Amino acid sequence: MTAQLINGKELSAVLKQEMKGEVQELKQQGLTPHLTVVLVGENPASKSYVKGKEKAAAETGISSSLIELPESTSEAELLQIIKDLNTDESVHGILVQLPLPKQISEQQVIETIHPDKDVDGFHPSNIGKMMTGEDTFLPCTPYGIITMLKSKNIEIEGKHAVIIGRSNIVGKPVGQLLLNENATVTYCHSKTKNLKELAATADILVAAIGKAHAITADYIKNGAVVIDVGINRQADGTLTGDVDFESAKEKASYITPVPRGVGPMTITMLLKNTIKAAKGLSTIE
Ligand code: GUN
Repeated sequence: MTAQLINGKELSAVLKQEMKGEVQELKQQGLTPHLTVVLVGENPASKSYVKGKEKAAAETGISSSLIELPESTSEAELLQIIKDLNTDESVHGILVQLPLPKQISEQQVIETIHPDKDVDGFHPSNIGKMMTGEDTFLPCTPYGIITMLKSKNIEIEGKHAVIIGRSNIVGKPVGQLLLNENATVTYCHSKTKNLKELAATADILVAAIGKAHAITADYIKNGAVVIDVGINRQADGTLTGDVDFESAKEKASYITPVPRGVGPMTITMLLKNTIKAAKGLSTIE
């Protein structure tokens, strides 16, 4: 069997086209969704992600601004900037690019962003709402993954989903969203003893470990849906996933490529969240 591709770039293009129309309508009503991105320091990967976010926003008519701060920025300085953005009515979404320099607590930063402007879906109150299944901002990568599965009408209910990786940004929330869709969810991580055996029981396998080609065909059940969240830069500068695509595609029923898989969807869902934030502005005090 050769797997069908779930192409995140193509799906993103369709979703962005839809959003462009929605943004045009909002603009006619006098509301231009606005995203403010805060970038601290010189991390090259972060700079590249932030550029991608600005470009995608512009494509859909969402306005965005970038606040670039030096690596030496103190936590107090950053928290004050966030508080000012919280009360700035022209700003609907706030995204502080992670990771942050050592002197700044990421948790403090996340908790300072107003939950109604938290387009990353990282604030504890939004995570709580996600857990109870209330309407809220969903973290962008997990939201993108669920959207990809639904775009192919892949059944989630009753399926065994195995998540490899337990980060707050991807692993934990994607497991929760799959549980919300009635999957049976197993979380695996660096201390898991029988990773290969567990992975090979998955109907839906999500790889979010950050290690190039770690997931080979032996980890994959025949006919499984394989979602590759890895973005690993190789020595030659090209990007590759956590899944060994060439061997995996012979066993999987569906597979996401890298690049053009989950990555573009993350940015697209950020735009969705920004539009949602703009529509909900009236709740901010
Ligand atoms: N760094 C890597 N991924 C993300 C993300 O989704 N949001 C933010 N704010 N920082 C990140």
